[in-house]
Amino acid sequence: MLVLGIESSCDECSAAVVEDGRLIHAQIIAGQEASHAPFAGVVPEVASRRHVELILPVVTETLARAGIEVSAVDAVAATSRPGLSGSLLVGLSFAKGLALARSIPLLAVDHIYAHLYAPRLSFRDGIAGGSESCVGPYPYLGLLVSGGHTVIARVEDFDTITVLGTTIDDACGEAFDKVAKHLGLGYPGGPVIDKLAEEGDDFAYLFPDPSLHKGRHRYDVSYSGLKTAVINQREKFRNERSGGSKESTGAGSDDERSGEEGEGERAADIAASFRRVAIEMIVNRVSRAVAAEGISTVVVGGGVAANRLLRRRLPEVPGIRALFPPFELCTDNAAMIAGIAYHHFARGDVSPLDVDVNSRVPLFRHSYP
Ligand code: KG4
Ligand code: ZN
Repeated sequence: MLVLGIESSCDECSAAVVEDGRLIHAQIIAGQEASHAPFAGVVPEVASRRHVELILPVVTETLARAGIEVSAVDAVAATSRPGLSGSLLVGLSFAKGLALARSIPLLAVDHIYAHLYAPRLSFRDGIAGGSESCVGPYPYLGLLVSGGHTVIARVEDFDTITVLGTTIDDACGEAFDKVAKHLGLGYPGGPVIDKLAEEGDDFAYLFPDPSLHKGRHRYDVSYSGLKTAVINQREKFRNERSGGSKESTGAGSDDERSGEEGEGERAADIAASFRRVAIEMIVNRVSRAVAAEGISTVVVGGGVAANRLLRRRLPEVPGIRALFPPFELCTDNAAMIAGIAYHHFARGDVSPLDVDVNSRVPLFRHSYP
């Protein structure tokens, strides 16, 4: 069964053709970073207009790369929640039109479940970035860390997850983006901070880690205190005993200095000290979850899966088998939408043509949605 998947929940316009919920025949992901960079963040109105421009060429080119006519598509799936309403509406409305015109089933899919399903996909031979699915059987722990989501979940099946932890304020990638914006480092901030941090001293500043250690918050993270410390109270957290705040790493240059910084500060040290706390918070919560749940496989998804420190640290934790799927399956992508939709269809779910989008879905502690 060939499912055409469409993803338009935020600023990626993506389409994919996936066979039987597993094999990706083709996928295109059209980003919109250039459109949003001047605003240092995604502007919903701009995003939905770009989706309108991109959706038809992206779908057409995806079918061409898969080597199929639209008549060969057995079902069409689109993200319906959560995300930016205007952006979601473009992809979902397109899918409705196709379902109606071709008399094929429509499947409206949840984006969070789809991310946690993504590691089960593999690329057809010969497609760039080709890779085998790596995850093995359920259950596993899913760690979804992106600009919009921070979720640690026990994944039992494609439609059965238990959210163990989430953020109580900003998403992980959002914190990277906001700190980078303040330091004048550009957008998106995650990759820039990550790169800069490689040259900095992780302990130049001892930024605070939230005290979410007990009870129902033991797997949760919080970035607002860390963000405030980095942006507004940096001097308070300068580590006097660290040799790294001036020339010690030898990697500093005037290019790394931001106009916001005080005398002698290096952006690389700020980036490294921030990144250490931001990532260790995640690693710590995942370690707790692994120990408590007795599940060793941890599959990472979301844009922050690219983070170099996370990629080094998570596999070092005793008892964790950390898996990082190909990056194209970590960030927002349509293959995960088509993939999970196949299982919904096989179970007998079909969405009505009047199905609506839902911008927010509350993350309840023991069940989702
Ligand atoms: O999954 P994604 O492409 O889009 C959504 O947010 O849905 O994730 C983008 C986020 C941005 O916040 C970006 O700054 C962050 O992922 N990111 C990173 C890195 N690469 C991307 N954060 C930290 N380190 C990175 N290397
Ligand atoms: Zn996403």
